[in-house]
Amino acid sequence: MTVPVIAIDGPSASGKGTIAALVAQHLDFHYLDSGALYRIVGLIGGERAANLDDDTEMSRITLNLNIKFTGTGVEANGREVSALIRDEKAGAAASRIAVLPGVRAALMTLQHGFRQPPGLVADGRDMGSVVFPDAGLKIYLTATPEERALRRYKQLIEKGGSASMAALLQDIRDRDFRDSNRAAAPLLKCAGAIEIDTTGTPVDAVVAQVLRSYQ
Ligand code: C5P
Repeated sequence: MTVPVIAIDGPSASGKGTIAALVAQHLDFHYLDSGALYRIVGLIGGERAANLDDDTEMSRITLNLNIKFTGTGVEANGREVSALIRDEKAGAAASRIAVLPGVRAALMTLQHGFRQPPGLVADGRDMGSVVFPDAGLKIYLTATPEERALRRYKQLIEKGGSASMAALLQDIRDRDFRDSNRAAAPLLKCAGAIEIDTTGTPVDAVVAQVLRSYQ
């Protein structure tokens, strides 16, 4: 019997991570935050002063990386990197290396490895279209760029940082453009996906809608 998968895709800061983790918790399923993988590759590439646009160099780095989710965080080559991969710089680097087909291929086996009983909730950009095309439920989460920038702003302020709404909105628009217009696994609402616009909708209402769609 194949292990069930719920694929949750959507643009940056659409709430995918929060919703996916809660749905996984409700169903007692495993959870894959695929964006973390791209963020780690971007982070390590930046730290090594690699050419983030060079597929050969970045693919080699990706294949030699040992990424481990620990339950409380994520490690790259034995180093805890959860906080480091969350900043805007790592996000921008992630979106740059994410256009590289070799890097995407190098992360494929790792992602498939998360498909373990009793089931998996996976969030990203291409979970339903490329990585788990046979997912039993595909969700496409959206929200307006303004709402997504505001969510990011609140997150950064809560963490004690500072942020500019204008800069965050521009970053979100740039990232949407890059993610949607790349040749390799672009962000799209794939066939069969249920679209949920989360603008102004409380998290628990979105979680309930996903769970209803699954049952
Ligand atoms: O989801 P998150 O914002 O953490 O992802 C960071 C970046 O990684 C995205 O902007 C996107 O370019 C890339 N990504 C991807 N495919 C995925 C997940 C993330 O290309 N499945």
